[in-house]
Amino acid sequence: MLNPANSKKWTDTSLVAEVRATMLLDCMTLDEKIGQLCQLSGNYGYISEELADSIRRGHAGSIINEVEPQVIDQLQRLSIEESRLGIPLLIGRDVIHGFNTIFPIPLGQAATWSPQSIEKAARISAIEASSIGVNWTFAPMIDITRDPRWGRIAESLGEDPYLCAELGCAMIKGFQGVDLADEKSIAACAKHFAGYGAAESGRDYNTANIPEVELRNTYLPPFKAAVDAGVSTLMSAFNDLNGVPATANTWLMNDVLRSEWSFNGLVVSDWESVSQLITHGLCENKKDAALAAAEAQIDMEMVSDCYWQHLPQLINEKRISESHIDQMVLRILTTKFSLGLFDNIPRGFQLHEQSVVEQHLAEAKDLACKSCVLLKNNNRRLPLIQQNLASIAVIGPLANDDYEQLGTWIFDGDEQRSVNCLDGIVQQLDNQVHVHFAAGMETSRSNQQQGFAEAISAAEKSDVAIMVMGEESILSGEAHSRADIGLPGCQELLIREISKTGTPIVLVVMAGRPITLEPILADVDALLFAWHPGSMGGAAISDLLFGRVSPSGKLPVTFPRKVGQIPIYYAQKNTGKPPSDESFIHMNDIQVRAPQTSLGMTATHLDTHFSPLFPFGFGLSYAKFEYANLALSSQTLKIGESIEISADVSNVGECDAEEIVQLYIRDKVGSITRPIKELKGFDRVSINKGDTITVSFTLHTDELGFFGRDGRFNTEPGEFQIWLGGSSEAELTSHFTLQTPHPSAVN
Ligand code: GLC
Repeated sequence: MLNPANSKKWTDTSLVAEVRATMLLDCMTLDEKIGQLCQLSGNYGYISEELADSIRRGHAGSIINEVEPQVIDQLQRLSIEESRLGIPLLIGRDVIHGFNTIFPIPLGQAATWSPQSIEKAARISAIEASSIGVNWTFAPMIDITRDPRWGRIAESLGEDPYLCAELGCAMIKGFQGVDLADEKSIAACAKHFAGYGAAESGRDYNTANIPEVELRNTYLPPFKAAVDAGVSTLMSAFNDLNGVPATANTWLMNDVLRSEWSFNGLVVSDWESVSQLITHGLCENKKDAALAAAEAQIDMEMVSDCYWQHLPQLINEKRISESHIDQMVLRILTTKFSLGLFDNIPRGFQLHEQSVVEQHLAEAKDLACKSCVLLKNNNRRLPLIQQNLASIAVIGPLANDDYEQLGTWIFDGDEQRSVNCLDGIVQQLDNQVHVHFAAGMETSRSNQQQGFAEAISAAEKSDVAIMVMGEESILSGEAHSRADIGLPGCQELLIREISKTGTPIVLVVMAGRPITLEPILADVDALLFAWHPGSMGGAAISDLLFGRVSPSGKLPVTFPRKVGQIPIYYAQKNTGKPPSDESFIHMNDIQVRAPQTSLGMTATHLDTHFSPLFPFGFGLSYAKFEYANLALSSQTLKIGESIEISADVSNVGECDAEEIVQLYIRDKVGSITRPIKELKGFDRVSINKGDTITVSFTLHTDELGFFGRDGRFNTEPGEFQIWLGGSSEAELTSHFTLQTPHPSAVN
């Protein structure tokens, strides 16, 4: 029996969200319930009669991709004032790394290793997005990936589960704030659950085959951390995971997410990923797809209409129960009550004062400064000393482009707010130094060389050539994977031609992924990797190049020498025949008719050294840091105990700077083979030149565990090695023993 809707007991704000949601659910018809499971696409700036009618009939729980404030206001009023129960809408948008103010792409943000800065950026993004009525973002993207061919590495937080978890949770805190009902807070969405970053060959949407132990030890931890951090929603991934697409994968969605992790929040499908179950070949038709996704408790269907078309019949045929649907609806309504949508909608919108915009841009510049990674600095070519320069050349197709530096997923980015590299450098030099600009190429992908002469001429009359090269933003992001991850077009040729002038080159690379830079590395004196640095990229890069701030970024992802090395990552297994410098013989050095076994039998390629071009955690500074006096509070410990690890870090360089201290461990022997290194701690510290500080970490034995062959999480006794330093190739090392529990202690 439907309770009279006019009672509206759910409006009582003293009740908790789930109680209010249950009260409302009791008043809903089956059609209204199924309507809440549907996310419809907005019309991008107006409201079609069809959309308005759907909303009036309660056939929409959410609208995606509407960002006109007045239209959002009308959509909410339609739902609140003209539908029977007046249920507000979730307004979803991809606010991935900024809204109008654009921060570095997430992979660049990860290079800051700064949860605090990342949280601040997410908060600003939420403030800007919520001010026009968006209340749900589809971020953070916390897919682990070790394949820079994959375009969506740009949106990721890199290759390491620990770093990704820490930074993903910082984003969630920024988006959701301390109070999700605060009108500046928006619901976060941890995506894409799960295994999407393991797409074969880095080709987007491709199959992911991941053994359960690898899934549990590498790909799932960031999502578990997000759930534990209180993320409001998750999104199911497009990919086929071990034969069952994630959107219908009941082991992943029910056994792991709902049962093991007790996640009781909203799960939304990806764009038409429910109907794509047919394309995958898992389902015959939309009706089967609706059943498969509902059985996996995918609460809301993004844009496709399998639920709307077929759930009533499936319930009628008793192939799925209405009580099962009720649970899905309850999670959606609880999210809406938790967001305060029933209590302070419509929120209207307010334009931000210019002073607020300036604050946001200042934060974007700070994050961009922290995100850039100095990969090479021969003979201290950087920082550039303005007083020593009469003229500089600024060369490259990305040097004066306000748009390309914003990167992928910037639907609402305001490029009017951008400061590009050329502008940043000109502003920095303030007419004290002559600047010769030459794009050299029409676009980053161009193979036409007619611009070379002007660029060469600019370099020839300059003391230094700052080259801003890399990828246009369209070359990374969703569905933008590359099989060759070198500099596009004839960029390498242009760099070589500029190098021939003898003018020193400072290369700035903007890209959405690691680029195979080995072919031109010898031609440049300094290399600053800027990712796509966002609105204030040019201002940040200029500050770094001219030494107003020292680079501090560290790589969140390994840079390969060649694409053929992929997947290549620091936390690799030792194998039974690990490579070594002694054993490596380059193909070109092999004697003719060399005997079969004369080359050493180790895990390496013949034509490329087994090491990366630049390792995970690597990044140079204008300062120089030395590590010493590694100390452990104990060389032995028991299960359940913690160990204190400390070391002295000295800044023996020429300037004050920040260093990202990293702690790695290795479990020497396990019931499954363990990585040769695993990041277990990091700390960003400021050290003035000449100073020494002591950094310390507390490591609990729970952090030494892993999921074993039995699928259970265990910490196993034995020898552990630890390293502490400024990259994954840290050399300061020690070890400790985790003791075998005493037989009486084992219950
Ligand atoms: C896209 C993406 C997903 C995004 C969604 C809505 O296809 O896979 O990350 O949030 O659709 O735009």
